[in-house]
Amino acid sequence: MSDNSNPHGQTTGHVWDETLAELTNPPPKWWMLGLHASWILVVLYTLYYPSWPLLNGHFKGLAGWTSIGEFKKDMKEVTDIRAKYEDKLPGMSAAAILADDELKNYVIRSSKVLYGDNCAACHGSGGGGNPGYPALVDDDWLFGGSIDLINTSIANGRKAMMPKMGGAQLSTAEIDKLAGAIHNGTVVSEPLYAAKGCIGCHGPDGKGMAALGSANLVDKIWRFAAKDQLASIKATIAHGVNDPTDPSTRKAEMPAWKERLTDIQIKKLAVYVHALGGGQ
Ligand code: HEC
Ligand code: HEC
Repeated sequence: MSDNSNPHGQTTGHVWDETLAELTNPPPKWWMLGLHASWILVVLYTLYYPSWPLLNGHFKGLAGWTSIGEFKKDMKEVTDIRAKYEDKLPGMSAAAILADDELKNYVIRSSKVLYGDNCAACHGSGGGGNPGYPALVDDDWLFGGSIDLINTSIANGRKAMMPKMGGAQLSTAEIDKLAGAIHNGTVVSEPLYAAKGCIGCHGPDGKGMAALGSANLVDKIWRFAAKDQLASIKATIAHGVNDPTDPSTRKAEMPAWKERLTDIQIKKLAVYVHALGGGQ
């Protein structure tokens, strides 16, 4: 065996593969400083923050920090910022909120979740509508697109009525004629339109009446959109909408929200829906 000296320092005596020796040199100074700094940090950290388990509970830390405390502090900051706006809402109508740019922006930004939780299932997450459920993003309103009418739609719900016109009122040939004219957007010049009383609800211009929620029949925006639109129009004429005497009638009901949501939530949603794009 050799002595333990080596051109690079003292060795431990272990030599591998004839040439590979393990030296006993101390680690560099910077490394030792780092080592000591890190354990000091660990000790300070565990003193400052909650750390060691004790027999009953745990060491609470000298700083008194808790994660729930930090959460509550953050929440209070949020509530304080919100309070500036929220405190004003109770005394204001939806129209007044809409007229105040700052409040309007606040309400729009903060009501996405409210809309998502309560309305998106039927009207789509962006308000684009679903088959049987009207779009809220366009400016084609059944019941009117003013802020007050939107607010009423949400608070009281809506259930438009169109009696079934098939059978005693209209023959199949007449239904086909009316449906074809509606499909082309020209129903007001079809004599049956006035003769069979459609005009009474859909109006002389065919654009519908907000008070009745009767659809616009000349804009080619379909309330009951379907792949075969002509067939859908025929079905609506034959069976009506919410006609209790016809089991094949279309069902269309907007639930009332005044029992389920607060007055303020409803106002917020009215402003939100109005701002989706089509409010008047
Ligand atoms: C269960 C399905 C459903 C849900 C949930 C629902 N709606 Fe409706 N909504 C409807 C239907 C159906 C109509 C159309 C009623 C009709 O044709 O008579 C409607 C109509 C409306 C209208 C009138 C649209 C127009 O063209 O005049 C507004 C505004 C509206 N909904 C907003 C909302 C808001 C805001 C929410 C959430 C609080 C909501 N809806 C939740 C089904 C729903
Ligand atoms: C008592 C009022 C009333 C009368 C009369 C009436 N309608 Fe309607 N109609 C409505 C209402 C209300 C709606 C919309 C229902 C809804 O969206 O919930 C509607 C919807 C429609 C639709 C669906 C449009 C779409 O976009 O999908 C068609 C088509 C239609 N009516 C055709 C007619 C024709 C044709 C006549 C005459 C033969 C007629 N209606 C008579 C009230 C009426």
